[in-house]
Amino acid sequence: MAQQKLFLLPGDGIGTEIMAEVEKLIAHLNASGQSNFTTDTGLVGGSAYDAHGVAISEEDMQKALDADAVIFGAVGGPKWDDVPYEVRPEAGLLRLRKDLGLFANLRPAICYPALADGSSLKREIVEGLDILIVRELTGGVYFGEPKEIHDLGDGQKRAIDTQVYETYEIERIARVAFDLAKTRDNRVHSSEKRNVMKSGVLWHEVVSAIHQNEHSDVQLDHILADNCAMQLVRNPKQFDVIVTDNLFGDILSDAAAMLTGSLGMLPSASLGAPDAETGKRKALYEPVHGSAPDIAGQGMANPIAMIASFAMALRYSFEMIELADKVEGAIADVLYEGLRTGDIMQDGCKKVTTAEMGDAIIAKL
Ligand code: IPM
Ligand code: MG
Repeated sequence: MAQQKLFLLPGDGIGTEIMAEVEKLIAHLNASGQSNFTTDTGLVGGSAYDAHGVAISEEDMQKALDADAVIFGAVGGPKWDDVPYEVRPEAGLLRLRKDLGLFANLRPAICYPALADGSSLKREIVEGLDILIVRELTGGVYFGEPKEIHDLGDGQKRAIDTQVYETYEIERIARVAFDLAKTRDNRVHSSEKRNVMKSGVLWHEVVSAIHQNEHSDVQLDHILADNCAMQLVRNPKQFDVIVTDNLFGDILSDAAAMLTGSLGMLPSASLGAPDAETGKRKALYEPVHGSAPDIAGQGMANPIAMIASFAMALRYSFEMIELADKVEGAIADVLYEGLRTGDIMQDGCKKVTTAEMGDAIIAKL
């Protein structure tokens, strides 16, 4: 079996604890001959700042660029609230996304039947929910220039962020969304604010053109981002794929995550363009949740989003579809049997630690 290089970046807070469960899973898959992964581990976020004074070192950036896939935990925490903006923990993640060209962020929100009662919405609204948010990840207001704060000299300051999109950026993310829709329910909602923003006007125009010229067999609806947020909590099952820009995707995916019962359940994949020669995409896999410093180091964190992110790596980077299905099936099984970390605890269920949850998923495999 060909060797596959994984670069692990656990990061801060609960990142290290949940990554430990993925490392156990990798060891199990290698030992049982189901995979041949090699792993190397680096520092990102606050932990990189403490060691090197930057949010990610050049050496670790190079390792990320050389890997077949990057598996990322979480970054940030109050300890680094006052570090300079350029080297704040999140800067490490944003640099990885930008320098690896990871423009397509896939955030599936699936409501496991066993967790439907854990959602803040009624069971019938969320049971069986299966939506995919396709978030543009390397453009928009996250990276647009200028991005600065000016001193106006009269006791006032002016802060500027720039929302900017070019045609090709919208075209390529729209294509990803339409292609993925064809493997699902064949429907795409494109979300922007064309009633207020020029970038929204262009987004609408470009997505419509790609639809008409290349993907007219997919059902396309346009929806304003504020309405999309409202519809996500009113009737989320009306959606199949939602394609949207970087900032709206950040916000809408947190809302979608909560529909599934806990932010601790949501995985994500960030993919680049296929390489012209090898066809391989650069890729980074990370849970949607953050570093949860309040519960870090206590064995309380839910490792499911992290393990499900690794399953996405099996699916999208290594074409190990059956194994990805098996890992996702094992997650569903342990939930069905009533194992719960604190964040998804329900009456009559058994509360387990991070490591116990990881072990139970591996035992199912
Ligand atoms: C996410 C996070 C990041 C983002 C932060 C940590 C920079 O919220 O991946 O959704 O805003 O993109
Ligand atoms: Mg976010």
